[in-house]
Amino acid sequence: MTENLVWITGASAGIGKAMAVSVPWPGSRVVGICRSAVPAGVEHLSLDLSRPSEWPKLAEAILHDAQKFAGLRLVLVHAAATVGPLAFAEQANQREYADSVVLNAAAPMAIGAAFLHATSGCDCERILLQLSSGASRSIYPGWSSYGPSKAAVDHWVRTVGEEQSRRGGARVLGVAPGTVSTSMQASLRSSSEESFPNRSKFVDLHEKGILTSPETAAADLWGVIRSDLPSGSVVDLRELASGG
Ligand SMILES: NC(=O)c1ccc[n+]([C@@H]2O[C@H](COP(=O)([O-])OP(=O)(O)OC[C@H]3O[C@@H](n4cnc5c(N)ncnc54)[C@H](OP(=O)(O)O)[C@@H]3O)[C@@H](O)[C@H]2O)c1
Repeated sequence: MTENLVWITGASAGIGKAMAVSVPWPGSRVVGICRSAVPAGVEHLSLDLSRPSEWPKLAEAILHDAQKFAGLRLVLVHAAATVGPLAFAEQANQREYADSVVLNAAAPMAIGAAFLHATSGCDCERILLQLSSGASRSIYPGWSSYGPSKAAVDHWVRTVGEEQSRRGGARVLGVAPGTVSTSMQASLRSSSEESFPNRSKFVDLHEKGILTSPETAAADLWGVIRSDLPSGSVVDLRELASGG
């Protein structure tokens, strides 16, 4: 019997991939949701999450598995996101901008709600982790389809986390992983100062060797998932590490 069933969006790269290969419960079934290939040992549900028409396919897959589940724990880690377009809003490619807002703001909420709905009948522990970002609290001109989207998701976590607390339901958490060496950081460095005036900050972080590895971030994120952090918490790994 599967004791732990873990869905991870964005399991093909970066933090999501590192989490998919380091699930801390032996014998877990892991399903990766993304467009490209996932690591060995992870099942693949290929979806483009910037397309709302694809979301019901994930909801149905979760419901299908949850209805038969008799194990200990159901977990959804939502890591899929996109960094771009890196451009001032009025100059951005408007199609790319809309796709980014849908993926970064709407998808986490709709998919998070679908997970809670589909698993609500399960008599087991349920955990939903939304990947947040320090950009949800900082103003970065040229990055308005990302940080403000993460800020919306943070407030969703606080609100829905409170709902779940009231009924002894799932633990809903938002965690910013710090600055992690993935393609997302590479995209920030390869942007132009004109479209992203804070570019040099991210070049400096890279040159000073301050970026953490996806593996370290994954271990710390699993640590938060396994902690007793209450539902509705939105935290930053850097502040947790410094005791803040
Ligand atoms: N890296 C950092 O420094 C950092 C800092 C703060 C927060 N975060 C957050 O951490 C999470 C992971 O970031 P990362 O740096 O690991 O990113 P990454 O290396 O760029 O990986 C992004 C993942 O999202 C998936 N994805 C992108 N567009 C998608 C789409 N339309 N449909 C389905 N999946 C899609 C990608 O899979 P496919 O391309 O295969 O679809 C990939 O697996 C994100 O939520 C990000 O905002 C990262």
